[in-house]
Amino acid sequence: MEHNDGSKPPKPMSESKSEMIELVLPNDTNPLGALLGGRLMHWIDLAGALAAHRHSHSHVVTASMDHIDFLVPVHVGDMVILQSALNRVFHTSMEVGVKVLVENYISGTRQKVATAYLTFVAVDRHGRKLEVAPVIPETEDDKRRYEGALRRREASKSERERRAAARSSSAQT
Ligand SMILES: CC(C)(COP(=O)(O)OP(=O)(O)OC[C@H]1O[C@@H](n2cnc3c(N)ncnc32)[C@H](O)[C@@H]1OP(=O)(O)O)[C@@H](O)C(=O)NCCC(=O)NCCS
Repeated sequence: MEHNDGSKPPKPMSESKSEMIELVLPNDTNPLGALLGGRLMHWIDLAGALAAHRHSHSHVVTASMDHIDFLVPVHVGDMVILQSALNRVFHTSMEVGVKVLVENYISGTRQKVATAYLTFVAVDRHGRKLEVAPVIPETEDDKRRYEGALRRREASKSERERRAAARSSSAQT
């Protein structure tokens, strides 16, 4: 519910936490039976959107996804667990962190596959941007992620500005 001034009340980070589980099938893999990187990126996008929807109670579009290192291979028959949560809200945008684990259900072991940070922008059904309620970090780990999100936003903003300047100078030559 909105406050009288139109602002939305803050919500704890824990309320956005989401988990998505996928079983890797042959159609998700290359001819050697290893999970396709593009398929994993698609799942990361969906898992991230779950947390963004839960927090904002709105439609969202993906504005960006940071670079991803795939730490261990994932094979057909493995279970992939994608855990997501809000890291920080700015105005209309929010950063979501997604942690990817692979579980071997025979041995019961889990390994970290990747971590990704995505920025989603809240929009209404006509695609107009919406203000998002602030998020409250609760634990020490939440606070570390909250601070990190601001650093990443500043770094990616300067990188976008640098690329835009390079595009406009190459268009003039
Ligand atoms: C992302 C999008 C909504 C930004 O809208 P815009 O009017 O160009 O951008 P604005 O400069 O007003 O920025 C709006 C917010 O998005 C953030 N943003 C914009 N581009 C961004 C990017 N590349 N990475 C991270 N954040 C970004 C801004 O910082 C701003 O955040 P704030 O409101 O919390 O301060 C718009 O570019 C868009 O619709 N892109 C396509 C999205 C899409 O189709 N995604 C699926 C990929 S196929």
